[in-house]
Amino acid sequence: MTEEIKTERLTLRPWEDSDADFVYDLYSRWVVQRFIGTEPSVMESRSEAVERVQRFQELDHPVHGIWAVTRTDDGQPVGTLLLKPIPASGEEPLQPSNDVEIGWHFHPDHWGSGFATEAASAVLDHAFAAGLEQVVAVTNPANEASQSVCRRIGMEHLGQTKKYYNAECELFLVQNPATAQQD
Ligand SMILES: CC(C)(COP(=O)(O)OP(=O)(O)OC[C@H]1O[C@@H](n2cnc3c(N)ncnc32)[C@H](O)[C@@H]1OP(=O)(O)O)[C@@H](O)C(=O)NCCC(=O)NCCS
Repeated sequence: MTEEIKTERLTLRPWEDSDADFVYDLYSRWVVQRFIGTEPSVMESRSEAVERVQRFQELDHPVHGIWAVTRTDDGQPVGTLLLKPIPASGEEPLQPSNDVEIGWHFHPDHWGSGFATEAASAVLDHAFAAGLEQVVAVTNPANEASQSVCRRIGMEHLGQTKKYYNAECELFLVQNPATAQQD
């Protein structure tokens, strides 16, 4: 069950069937999709959005989750926050690795407000409180906005890797401060 998480301005909650219109509006935009996946493409029908919401709801795990990020003041959905095993490179269909990734997809109407950073920080806190030792993030090398979010939430840039998603990605990592080995 995806646990609700509250921040100063946001409520991260499980996806609801009624979020399909928002999901369609979000993922049908090229500015949102252009750096996602090896062959980026936009969502083309509302039925795909209904299926996507169902897939989001299916991730049932005590720590991992795919959250609908909403504004607490008016309940408006603003984006997606993900914490889940990252697919290892290899033969399709890609299989999850042992590493856990954090990711974010926000609606352009809500960029430039610090919402992605605020939501991602809270999910990292949740991950580390639950005892995860480390969390990774990968971005398309051209996705500077996403790399900035990684840095804002304290992730370290480790250079490029082809370990995940069958793609050359910028790799970021943050260790759980409670369990990180001290030098
Ligand atoms: C990646 C993405 C989430 C970044 O969104 P964002 O709004 O730029 O990121 P943040 O939430 O960290 O907001 C930071 C911006 O808000 C501004 N801001 C305004 N109020 C703020 C506040 N209270 N707190 C923090 N930042 C604030 C910052 O100055 C910064 O602006 P700048 O980019 O002009 O310097 C967004 O571009 C996106 O969803 N892209 C499409 C999907 C995607 O590519 N996802 C990543 C795949 S790896």
